[in-house]
Amino acid sequence: MDTIQNTSAGISRQEFFKRVGTGFGAILLTQCLSSCGESDAPVDPNAPKVDFTININDAAFSALKNKGGFAYNQGIIIARTLDDTFLAVSQACPHQGTRVNFVAADASFFCPNHGSTFNSAGVVTKAPAASSLTRYNQSFTSMTGDLRVFS
Ligand code: FES
Repeated sequence: MDTIQNTSAGISRQEFFKRVGTGFGAILLTQCLSSCGESDAPVDPNAPKVDFTININDAAFSALKNKGGFAYNQGIIIARTLDDTFLAVSQACPHQGTRVNFVAADASFFCPNHGSTFNSAGVVTKAPAASSLTRYNQSFTSMTGDLRVFS
């Protein structure tokens, strides 16, 4: 036989690599499963690609200078939470298309037409809407006031 015995551990080199390989594979699988569910990808992967930048110093977006403020651009509602983070989700309620508002108190979205609500990630939390808003990624550059929204 062509194996080299590791006498101190009592296993062959072949067996050692087999065990390490299996353990390493299990770790990789665990990492993938735990991170794949928490992606920043939009809720709806079939949504059209979005990539634009606004500046919160522009008059049209000046509400975003303040915590709790929100503005609309290109079919997306962009909000600044009381915790000073930004959110971006599609503005059209999935029920009948009414433009949703931002509720700063709990960082959620509210449809004024029939009362559907959505959490900060755009996930529907109250009917009649039966599906979620599309969530978009965003990045803010405080030095310039540029806010990029993208999918
Ligand atoms: S249009 Fe939004 S709940 Fe009906």
